Order: sequence, then structure tokens, then C-alpha cells
Amino acid sequence: MKKIKIKGSTGISRIVIGESLRNLSAYVPQGRAVVITDTTVDGLYGAQFQELPAIVIGTGERVKQLVTLEKIYRAFIDHGVDRDTFVIGIGGGVVCDVTGFAASTFMRGVPFGFVATTLLAQVDAGVGGKNGVNFGGFKNMIGVFNQPAFVLCDPSVLRTLSRADVANGMAEVVKHALIADPEAFEFIETHAADILDLKSGIIEKAIGDAVRIKAAVVREDELEKGERRKLNFGHTFGHAVEAMTALPHGEAVSIGMVAAVSVSVARGLIKEQQAKRIITLLERLGLPTKMAVRPADIVEMLRRDKKRSGRSIHFILLNAIGEAIVEKMPLAEIERLCLKNPDPL
Ligand SMILES: NC(=O)c1ccc[n+]([C@@H]2O[C@H](COP(=O)([O-])OP(=O)(O)OC[C@H]3O[C@@H](n4cnc5c(N)ncnc54)[C@H](O)[C@@H]3O)[C@@H](O)[C@H]2O)c1
Repeated sequence: MKKIKIKGSTGISRIVIGESLRNLSAYVPQGRAVVITDTTVDGLYGAQFQELPAIVIGTGERVKQLVTLEKIYRAFIDHGVDRDTFVIGIGGGVVCDVTGFAASTFMRGVPFGFVATTLLAQVDAGVGGKNGVNFGGFKNMIGVFNQPAFVLCDPSVLRTLSRADVANGMAEVVKHALIADPEAFEFIETHAADILDLKSGIIEKAIGDAVRIKAAVVREDELEKGERRKLNFGHTFGHAVEAMTALPHGEAVSIGMVAAVSVSVARGLIKEQQAKRIITLLERLGLPTKMAVRPADIVEMLRRDKKRSGRSIHFILLNAIGEAIVEKMPLAEIERLCLKNPDPL
């Protein structure tokens, strides 16, 4: 079992990798607790938390919106949730994002924690204290920074995920390695097949590396003023692709990472040979690296990106595998590069 701690401005977040969902009660403070989960996770694992009252929401990105929050707030009132009640989100990234936001805003904030049940939630969505919902066709437009008291990552629940779901989570594992840790990248290159097979020992190491990298970045810059922007590598394009298509988050990020790598090569940063290694690894993991989205549409989405400041956008580029830099790039330059070299998209 590996434990990683993030001391955030709103409290300490303990991430426990290798802990079983069955031991959840050991992490929940004495007193009242309420679970938020989705229909799929409830069907698969509900028996393991049946002693706790559960609010069950639908599945998928479409439920990550204000109307779901309204239903949750009403259910909180029905369950008598107050500031002494502990709220536990058990599910993937959608459940974690929605639970964190609902708990952070209800009665100006009630305590909460997560049992992350997808690989993507274990390595990324559950960790770091960003909570929120989509709005007006834009990703994560409404949200708060607030650390979950704990995040339990039980690798055994990943066995009910499809291979595509595991690959989806691997996009973020690769992203973390790419921005900060060449050895973690090599580990994934060496063990890609075993990771996709969730081989014991190997999958825990991949999750642990990804969480360690993310936690280090969040500790340094919780509120995303500088260093944390690096975690958005692949997400500027990725969020635009995700909003315009039905692709899952990780797949959209994979395409976004390839686009950011191409821009990095075009700017004379990362060497082409390293760029090829990245694309080869994403393909071996079963992730998409190209998609037919009109570059002009991507640029239009970027113009409305919430991370835009004036006519520029903080864009994350790679100097090398394991070394990211944040560049404030004029939208016009991104547009020119996109239109000149639309291939990756
Ligand atoms: N807050 C952050 O920092 C952050 C970071 C990255 C991604 N995200 C968000 O995370 C979301 C994507 O998360 P996701 O990929 O986990 O999607 P998801 O939560 O929609 O889960 C994918 C599907 O897997 C099902 N599922 C969950 N656990 C399962 C299990 N153990 N076995 C079988 N099926 C299971 C779910 O019911 C769902 O249908 C996006 O909304 C994205 O924006 C947030």
C-alpha cells in the first residue's frame, strides 16, 4: 500500500493506493455519512457500501451539469446532510467532480472524500482538489478548488472496466510522465501490455508514479497560477475535441497531447525521434492520435477557452520527454500552426 499526502489550503488530502473499498469505513469519521455514486458503480459494488445511504446519479459526461447538482442538494436535504455529515463519492471522474462540488457548496461546505473506481479517477480526477461541472458546452466551467479528505484507489475494482476504459485512464498516466518524469515514461513503455492487463504490482506502480507526479505539482501550485498549468498538457486541444465529439476524456487528451507535441516540434523544442516515441506509446495503449475535427473549429473553441487570457493562451509544450514548459502563445500563432499542419487533428 502506498500513501501520498497533499497539504492544500483547505486541508490535508490522503491518497491511498492499494486500499480496498471494503475498508472504506476505516477512513470515514464517526457520525453520519452519505455516498454519491452512479448506477453502474452501484450495481457492481453497492453491496460493499450498503450500510451507508446512497444518492445514485446517472452515468457519463452528460450528468456532469447543474441539474444533477440540484437533485443532489435536494437529496442532501432529504438525508438530513449537515456540516457534521461526511460525503463520499464512489465512482469515476464524473462522480468525483460532481461530489466534490456538491459537498463544497452545500451549506458552504461539508467534508468529503472519494473512492476512485476508474483508472482515470485514481490517477487524476480524484486527486488534486479540482471539483466542478460543465456549463454552456464548456468543460468544467463552474467549479471550486477544495481537497478531498481522502482518495482510496482500489486496483481490484479496475477489473470490471473495459480495456478501452483502462486505456482512457492511461492517457493521463502518460501525461504525468511526459511533463515531469522520463523514468516513469520508460516504465510505461516497458510494461504497456502488463499495465493494460492490470497485472498486479505493475498497475500499482503506474498509478503510484502518476499520483506522485500530480501531487508534487499540486503541492507547489494548488490554485493553478503557474506550475500546475503543466497538468493541462494536451488539455487545451483535448477539451476542445472532447466538447465537439463524443470521445471520452482520456482519448480526447491523447489527441490533444499529439497536437501539443507537434506544436513543440514545430517550435524547435522536443526532438522528432522523442515525438515518435510518444505517438507510438499512445498507439500501443490503444489511444487515438488523430481525429477529423476541423482545425478552424478547434481554434474557435480555444477563443472561448476559460484558460485564455486576452488574445493569448497558456499552452503547455514539451522540451523533452519528462520536461514541460508553459508558454503564453498568441491564439493567432496557434491558429497558424493548426491551419498549416492540421495532420494531428
Ligand atoms: N477534477 C480533475 O482534476 C479531473 C482530471 C481529469 C479528468 N476529470 C474529469 O473526469 C471525467 C472522466 O472520468 P472517467 O473517465 O472516470 O469517466 P466516468 O466517471 O464517466 O466513468 C466512466 C464509466 O465507467 C463506469 N465505471 C466507473 N467505475 C467503474 C468500474 N470500477 N467498473 C466498471 N465501470 C465503472 C462509470 O459508471 C462510467 O459509465 C471527465 O468529466 C473529466 O473532465 C477531472
